[in-house]
Amino acid sequence: MEKIVLPADFLWGSSTASYQVEGASHEGGRGECIWDTFARKPGAVYAGENGDVACDQYHRYAEDIALMAELGLKSYRFSIAWPRIIPAGTGKVNPEGIAYYRKLCEELHKNDIHTCATIYHWDLPQPLEDAGGWADRSVLGAFEEYAKVCYKELGDVVDMWITINEPYCVAYLGYLFGAHAPGQRDLQKALAAVHHVNMAHGIAVKEHRNAGLKTPIGITWNPVTPRPATKSDADKKAAELSRAFNTEIFMFPVLGKGYPKLLAQETNCSIPIKDGDLETIAQPIDFLGVNFYNESPAAADDSAPFKFSMKPSWQEVTAMNWPFTPGGLERQLEWIAEVSKGAFGKAELPIYITENGCACDDTVTADGRVHDSQRVRYLYQHLMACANVIKKGVPLKGYYVWSLLDNFEWAFGYTKRFGIIHVDFKTMKRTPKDSAFFLRDTIAGYGEL
Ligand code: FCB
Repeated sequence: MEKIVLPADFLWGSSTASYQVEGASHEGGRGECIWDTFARKPGAVYAGENGDVACDQYHRYAEDIALMAELGLKSYRFSIAWPRIIPAGTGKVNPEGIAYYRKLCEELHKNDIHTCATIYHWDLPQPLEDAGGWADRSVLGAFEEYAKVCYKELGDVVDMWITINEPYCVAYLGYLFGAHAPGQRDLQKALAAVHHVNMAHGIAVKEHRNAGLKTPIGITWNPVTPRPATKSDADKKAAELSRAFNTEIFMFPVLGKGYPKLLAQETNCSIPIKDGDLETIAQPIDFLGVNFYNESPAAADDSAPFKFSMKPSWQEVTAMNWPFTPGGLERQLEWIAEVSKGAFGKAELPIYITENGCACDDTVTADGRVHDSQRVRYLYQHLMACANVIKKGVPLKGYYVWSLLDNFEWAFGYTKRFGIIHVDFKTMKRTPKDSAFFLRDTIAGYGEL
């Protein structure tokens, strides 16, 4: 099959998040976060699992970085755990937490690996949730304080910053569908959370500039830009609603386009905007981060909170039951390039895929290897989609595979393995899968199937 050809300066990376890989939850002065609490709630996480140990990256980071270097990965996207930096959410800063991320970044740099830090990937300190969490505006002062500490203490070792990972999941999975911490189901709170997460992004960008940092800063979304399930008018409307509520509500205010009009027309709830908020959110940023896993068609559904739901598709599915839709990635990247054209007076904004990958039922076989051929095919097809859109002029500058390691997959616990490196959670042994070697060879210029 055709060879994958990507630009020589393409940024190849792998992604993880603190709660999913670090472990050491009760070490190094770390405070409690909403996922510690949520995981203790009966039935919230598969088999009552939690991130207490996870991949133990807190102790094994050097081994993980050596593996990244062997694979030729050029960047590592990790997240900073807020409860390690400011254990109670506000107030006292924890020097041990800072020391951990400094060591991590220094080790990466020693191996010529660029550092990309996400400031918030879902581990909100529990005391802040007790005060209302993302649904309460008071979270913004705490977030500003936290972001300032990150810049002051780690600004010299982080090469690229991401403010927030997937605002959609923070607001909706956390406060509307109850599937993620803090497990709430309340539309008005969810819409308040949407606005506060958007605000937190803007505040983090402002403080990054105030700190005088010259490193690039952006945000990571998981945009949903589906086709209608059928050609009926109702399904066409459903596709529009889904783009508005799942994507534009987060993306448009950041790009300076305000909240989508459909919002006010379709719900009785409102977003608690104050004077000056839209300006705060729309701080000029340097790049856009996109997490893409799949695209499902949208259909009208009166029983759903926003009157649409996503339908199953006919494509091959992964262990998450998520379809293979590399064409959806192409369409989505073209759409994002189009809507972000001219934002902040720039001709175009660089785009990075900050997560892409799939879960498979991987096992180490008698030959000591992991033959994850489905993941190899998935990566091949999505990287081919990247090469195709670059040819069409989309300013795509890099790709981070999700994930470096099998890890704690939120409410699914350890059952869903997304890594290109297998982790035996009893022994913590790391075994690179076939997909890791495929990626290594693709980075080296041999991206063929
Ligand atoms: C994304 C999350 C990431 C991981 C993948 C599978 O929504 O950002 O932490 O769980 O899904």
